[in-house]
Amino acid sequence: MIRTSGLVKRYGDVVALDGLDLLVPQGEVLGLLGPNGAGKTTAVRILTTLLEADSGEAEVAGLNVQTQPEKVKERIGLSGQNAAIDEHLTGFENLDMVGRMYHLGRRRSRERARELLERFSLTDAGDRPAKTYSGGMRRRLDLAAALVAEPQVLFLDEPTTGLDPRSRSQMWETIQDLVRGGSTVLLTTQYMEEADQLCDDIVVIDKGRKIAEGTADQLKKQVGGERIEVVLVDLADLPAAGAVLRSLAVDEVQIDEPSRRLTAGVSGGVDDLRLVLQGLSEAGVAVVDVGLRRPTLDDVFLSLTGHHTEEEEPAAGDAKPGKGAKVKDTKKEAVR
Ligand SMILES: Nc1ncnc2c1ncn2[C@@H]1O[C@H](COP(=O)(O)OP(=O)(O)O)[C@@H](O)[C@H]1O
Ligand SMILES: [Mg+2]
Repeated sequence: MIRTSGLVKRYGDVVALDGLDLLVPQGEVLGLLGPNGAGKTTAVRILTTLLEADSGEAEVAGLNVQTQPEKVKERIGLSGQNAAIDEHLTGFENLDMVGRMYHLGRRRSRERARELLERFSLTDAGDRPAKTYSGGMRRRLDLAAALVAEPQVLFLDEPTTGLDPRSRSQMWETIQDLVRGGSTVLLTTQYMEEADQLCDDIVVIDKGRKIAEGTADQLKKQVGGERIEVVLVDLADLPAAGAVLRSLAVDEVQIDEPSRRLTAGVSGGVDDLRLVLQGLSEAGVAVVDVGLRRPTLDDVFLSLTGHHTEEEEPAAGDAKPGKGAKVKDTKKEAVR
């Protein structure tokens, strides 16, 4: 449903896309994962006919994006970071207007608007101007607007960036529902966890180039997999705890005595975690903390590119970005 080959786009000296190849089969969700400035929005804008590539090919639903833009537009929906909604219109009016734009007709437009408000839990807010909506409600309305004409292919450009955790998980559920309905989706994100939750396949890009591709599990394994960390109450238990970890470890058990911490690479995920807990308990080892640490997007980046996802190196003493780590939002883009 989506195919690009050798897409190149330059803005002056900046190479936003440097020969990007993508392939998304029908019914699949492709995650385009990368830090700010990687070229994600540029790729989406080219595929949605808003921008012309300097070279390369792009096809959506079997149609050439450069030569058949009008036909492409009829088959796609786009929901972006900067909501494409009219603040002064109500939720209902926004959706109704989109329906008219797509020539659904007066009756069908109104019906579709009501359906979508219901589906996105916006019925109660449907008669209020969109400017009174919360961030999460705006994103849902924006996504609803992208679905009015029942597109075959949906583009979601960072659908949850800037949302609070609760709105983010609501949005994830909404997107998962869509995906279960068989939509073909290209979703861009800066969050490994988001790609992990929603995407069949992930393409990692940096500076307009593909640097890795695979499922979330494949990418994490490529980075060196997951590690189990154990923090002991008492250093005297070090030999016993070491033995438990060594029975499962895929590499040398690392020991940091001052922090009473042992870590080991594992390959069995939560099953290994369970075995470690069981082993420690049987050996009578008391622990302060036991955890399974999965690679973050920053780990993936560091491993693949040799640099962090953030442009600046974290200052000494800065906490390492955690699971939901993302690139710092340095500037708001104004690309829609
Ligand atoms: N309209 C523009 N003019 C000049 N440079 C741009 C423009 N849009 C994007 N860029 C640059 O192209 C690169 C890719 O940007 P973008 O596709 O927006 O990345 P992402 O969406 O991954 O954050 C960045 O270096 C960005 O600064
Ligand atoms: Mg972007």
